[in-house]
Amino acid sequence: MAISRASIDRVIQAADIVGLVGDYVSLKKKGINWEACCPFHEEKTPSFKVNPVKGIYKCFGCGKGGDSISFMMDVDSLSYVEAIRSLARRFNVELEETESDFREEQIKQSERDSLQIAANFAQEFFVSNLHETEEGRSIGMAYFLERGLRPDVIKAFGLGYARDEWDALLQEAEKKQYSRELLEKAGLILINEETHKTYDRFRGRITFPIYNVSGKVMAWGARMLGKDKNQPKYINSPESILFDKSNALYGLFQAKNAVRHSDMCYLTEGYMDVIAMHQAGVENTVASSGTSLTEGQIRLIGRFTKNLTLLYDGDKAGIKASLRGIDMILAAGLNVRAVVLPDGHDPDSYAKDYGSAALQDYLKSHIRDFISFKAELAAEESASDPIKKAELLESILESISLVPDAVRRSVFLAEAARIFRMPEDTLHESLNLRVFNRNKRSRNQSETYSPTNQTGQNPSPVPVVDEKVKLNEADSLILELENALVRNLVLFGEMKIEEEFTVAKYILEEVADVNFQSELTKKVFEEYSDRHKEGHDVSPSYFLHHPEETLKRSVVDLCAGSYHLSHNWAGKFNIVIPEEEDLLAASLFKVILQLKRNHILAEIRLLEARMSSENEDEDEMVLLVEISKLKKKEIEFSGKLGSVINH
Ligand code: GTP
Ligand code: MN
Repeated sequence: MAISRASIDRVIQAADIVGLVGDYVSLKKKGINWEACCPFHEEKTPSFKVNPVKGIYKCFGCGKGGDSISFMMDVDSLSYVEAIRSLARRFNVELEETESDFREEQIKQSERDSLQIAANFAQEFFVSNLHETEEGRSIGMAYFLERGLRPDVIKAFGLGYARDEWDALLQEAEKKQYSRELLEKAGLILINEETHKTYDRFRGRITFPIYNVSGKVMAWGARMLGKDKNQPKYINSPESILFDKSNALYGLFQAKNAVRHSDMCYLTEGYMDVIAMHQAGVENTVASSGTSLTEGQIRLIGRFTKNLTLLYDGDKAGIKASLRGIDMILAAGLNVRAVVLPDGHDPDSYAKDYGSAALQDYLKSHIRDFISFKAELAAEESASDPIKKAELLESILESISLVPDAVRRSVFLAEAARIFRMPEDTLHESLNLRVFNRNKRSRNQSETYSPTNQTGQNPSPVPVVDEKVKLNEADSLILELENALVRNLVLFGEMKIEEEFTVAKYILEEVADVNFQSELTKKVFEEYSDRHKEGHDVSPSYFLHHPEETLKRSVVDLCAGSYHLSHNWAGKFNIVIPEEEDLLAASLFKVILQLKRNHILAEIRLLEARMSSENEDEDEMVLLVEISKLKKKEIEFSGKLGSVINH
């Protein structure tokens, strides 16, 4: 990265999180925290809290949390570096870039600039070909007009024409001194590897420029005109520094004002559909240009509205394949609805056959929420088949469980109950179980920290409650204890217990022989103790603003708000976890003992399971001896803890 760690720290220091967040939501002071309705999901009662002392925020509804940098990343869909630059500008911090990195960054920037200049040139070239060449007018323009496009719409979407010649663009570009290398990087020309011949990527096609949000051309989709079966209908630009297709939406630049204004966005499939909708007066329409919908695209729409309506043409296979999109949208905290067009029609053909007013009417009268949409989709096959019906209901409950906001979940649940004629209470239980399991999974995910699985959303079946659950509970207890240690280490590590003896020193010494279960704990302890050994102080902000995004978010999650064990566990296992205020060496001592004791208990359980496994290879005597040793050790720990254990 190009920006020095020291200047990132200065940005963090300077960034006033209350002022920053206050620009997006209206904050009210509550104790030391500030509260608001969460900007990342829809809610009526505030569960979004900002802690100015720690410089972090956390939503207890949808779980989003982090520091000023993550806030900017989430709220404005910025990359890490973009977020830092934006904060630096806002809080007047000069970023320091190391000499070599700085140059690297400059090269990148100038590469981006030159690609942009090449892209602008090509865009002008395609447009002028359409309007000012004989071929462009008689073939390209004739095609657009035949499809009913108005000149103002052709202009607004920058439509153009690539002549049917091998190197029309290349020749013009060379006249203007653009290098082949640059043109190739911009995806405008191709080089044949065998013959080394260079030729234009788009030939004999109409061109649809793909703009970024601020109206700069990044790429093109180019449609063929004839019906040549040996050619793809569309050819798209490859990805480049300018064009990251999973974060691009066709038509967003032209749609964004209408999207903001109507607080809703239609998502359709094709370039022509976006344009036809626009021409029919439904300007708030975008398309995911050739790819299936990505999380990045959903986030991008989420910057402008939380209400997304999917437009499907009436072909069922296509619809079913894209149902995954619905779950992704729900999980991102957006509202999703759907309109299915009559068989064989897409928005373009519908508008052409019946006119703009009819299309608008149709959209209004056929919009439905995702539950009835999903239900109707499978209505025919599930009507007579109870198993199919149960599956359908499960899939709908699974979708509902993805909705981050509890109030909205219960609205959808009522709708599902109505459609399936089931009592709401019955469904409620099943839904809650799913939500619980999902939360637990995502908690475990952050506990078993792994940089690769940060977005993994794998719906799993409802677990069967059996003996294993007990074991899981004990494992979760260990994780909770480990989390408590991480939290104490991060927040209070620097605190002095005695002269020259810090909480960190104490914890690190005590747990030196503990083999942590969670990757997060391992990682935090390793990094902490490395820095400690090197003689660095590790202030809370070191981890709360750690550059590794996943790690930081896990730590922020642990440190935001006070951390309680569930009553259930506290009662069952006779334990007390210190709260922030009464953190004392004595209670920390207890946490550590409890952790050690529970690690021993886990080992005992493992050995006992091996004893009863009827595996011939196991030597029962050896196992028994091991177990009794561990039990002795465990009793010793219990004694120290002074807790009463019932065996
Ligand atoms: P028309 O046939 O002119 O109405 O085009 P359309 O935009 O409605 O296309 P269609 O419904 O066939 O396909 C929907 C979208 O899928 C297109 O807009 C493209 O983004 C994409 N697509 C279709 N065919 C191809 C192809 O051959 N290659 C690629 N890369 N994308 C395609
Ligand atoms: Mn079409």
